[in-house]
Amino acid sequence: MKKIRWGILGTGTIAHKFASDLKFVENAELVAVGSRSLENAKNFADEFGVPSSFGSYEEFAESDEIDIVYIATPNNLHHPNTLLCLNNGKAVLCEKPFALNENQALEMINLARKKNLFLMDALWTKFLPHYQKMIEIVKGGSLGDIKVVLANFGFRANVEPNSRLLNPELGGGSLMDIGIYNIFTTLDILGKPDEINVSINSTEQGIDEQCAVIFKYNSGAMASLFSSISANLSTDVEICGTLGRLKLTTPFYDSTSVLEHYFDGEKQVIKTEKEEGLGYQYEARNATNCLLNGITESSVVPHSDSILLMQTLDQIRSLAGIVFPIEQDSHLNRNA
Ligand SMILES: NC(=O)c1ccc[n+]([C@@H]2O[C@H](COP(=O)([O-])OP(=O)(O)OC[C@H]3O[C@@H](n4cnc5c(N)ncnc54)[C@H](OP(=O)(O)O)[C@@H]3O)[C@@H](O)[C@H]2O)c1
Repeated sequence: MKKIRWGILGTGTIAHKFASDLKFVENAELVAVGSRSLENAKNFADEFGVPSSFGSYEEFAESDEIDIVYIATPNNLHHPNTLLCLNNGKAVLCEKPFALNENQALEMINLARKKNLFLMDALWTKFLPHYQKMIEIVKGGSLGDIKVVLANFGFRANVEPNSRLLNPELGGGSLMDIGIYNIFTTLDILGKPDEINVSINSTEQGIDEQCAVIFKYNSGAMASLFSSISANLSTDVEICGTLGRLKLTTPFYDSTSVLEHYFDGEKQVIKTEKEEGLGYQYEARNATNCLLNGITESSVVPHSDSILLMQTLDQIRSLAGIVFPIEQDSHLNRNA
């Protein structure tokens, strides 16, 4: 069977993890890596046995050896890097956050549709078996009407002040880095909120170190979502309904998380299948299969999910007063 030829753009932490999981994907091969530096590209290529390495993002995007690019650069580059790859005829799997704001996301999606190319937001946890099981249980109704979602994601980031996590130029902050997991998980469970309240602690550089978000729904449901890059939180999710409660144990984003189902005072632990690897192979497999079947939008992470997520993040940032430098004088200003 035909193999889908993957390229990876960027050679940092997540690029390494993704490359190591790509070997678990049938019908996929890693054929190229692109970096700002040829030396970094060659080192990465040596580590993973990649045949082609490029020392500029443009040369990488122009290569005719690649079918699909995994974009693993800092948040501020997702939009320009995606446009570069799409304009060179490449399908794209773009790391989260998909873009800095909704306008950027729409430009990316519109270009992919115009060029009839596959484009997906790399919301990898949505593909994990325990997450899929969680959705099945919620939609199945055994929890009753969902009234409360509690989601926390936090770790103590011991990083340089200029690191991508803390740097507003690179789209840093707890919300865009990890709070995003709380947000898209809750959107999957309860949908678009009717009201949002937000409170943050800002750093001197102007990004959120801690972010507390409340979603309110006309149905009476509420969600409390907390992210922090200054404290080690228990990173879990609780979904509470009128009949039962479901917990995704810490770390809820990881395939080691299990589901605890509380019903009538009884606790049932639901374990789901766990493959070898870190868990990135599930999204890579989905993208690979989409390409093999000529599909340009994944049903697991459709474009509408990415747009709703970006709209919600825009609204939260607007309420919190978080503005990225590129948004201050650009046509890519947020709508909110
Ligand atoms: N899905 C997940 O579980 C997960 C986990 C971590 C991060 N992420 C996302 O993945 C992206 C990359 O995160 P990371 O942790 O891998 O970051 P990282 O270790 O800092 O790597 C980012 C890479 O981007 C390239 N780059 C281009 N311009 C850069 C700049 N101005 N500063 C720093 N690097 C620059 C560099 O590669 P070259 O020098 O080779 O060009 C660098 O190695 C982020 O958007 C993040 O949100 C996702």
